[in-house]
Amino acid sequence: MEKEKISLKILPMEKCQIDDVLKIEEEAYGDHHWSKDSFYGELSNDLAHYYSALDPDGNLIGYAGSWRILDEAHITTIAVKPNLMRKKIGEALLNQILKDCYKNEVKYLTLEVRVSNKPAISLYEKYGFKSLGTRKGYYQNNNEDALIMWTENIFWDKFKLLYQQNFEKLKEDINIQ
Ligand SMILES: CC(C)(COP(=O)(O)OP(=O)(O)OC[C@H]1O[C@@H](n2cnc3c(N)ncnc32)[C@H](O)[C@@H]1OP(=O)(O)O)[C@@H](O)C(=O)NCCC(=O)NCCS
Repeated sequence: MEKEKISLKILPMEKCQIDDVLKIEEEAYGDHHWSKDSFYGELSNDLAHYYSALDPDGNLIGYAGSWRILDEAHITTIAVKPNLMRKKIGEALLNQILKDCYKNEVKYLTLEVRVSNKPAISLYEKYGFKSLGTRKGYYQNNNEDALIMWTENIFWDKFKLLYQQNFEKLKEDINIQ
């Protein structure tokens, strides 16, 4: 029997969703989560681009954001409602950020991730991000190091091919409306 595909919509985040974002934020990041004011600030920042993933009933199930500055984008966050992890929602959100980068001729992406965060590191590696080094003690709550990850030029054939292959596979696994 064919596995049931989950359906989602990815739309620009709205300020009225911030309370729901905070619920996922607290669950997904624990002690070291952003405040409500940080999200209000982000949604008022012209450089910032945030997305919400919504289930067919309009419930928030994940979100992601980036800052775009000239030809670079910095991924600031990607989080998925914990009971819905490993269903490709995080990947769909990363895919949306990359799609925007292609559309806006952004060539390079960077991000920081906790060195212990294997799920996130695997997600980024799946899309061709590489480690560039660490920032020592970057996370103040436990003094953990951040891994700095980076893409080469995403318009290079090698990266584009990986993106397209992942995107085709993703569309087989979930319905992105
Ligand atoms: C990281 C996160 C966004 C991934 O979202 P998700 O929807 O659960 O992941 P997906 O189902 O889309 O997985 C896509 C890929 O990510 C990697 N991945 C995700 N979870 C993983 C896990 N638990 N172990 C290993 N790899 C994992 C795999 O490469 C996976 O591809 P595959 O399914 O072909 O193996 C999610 O774990 C999360 O919200 N974590 C808490 C917040 C956080 O740490 N965000 C990152 C900050 S930099």
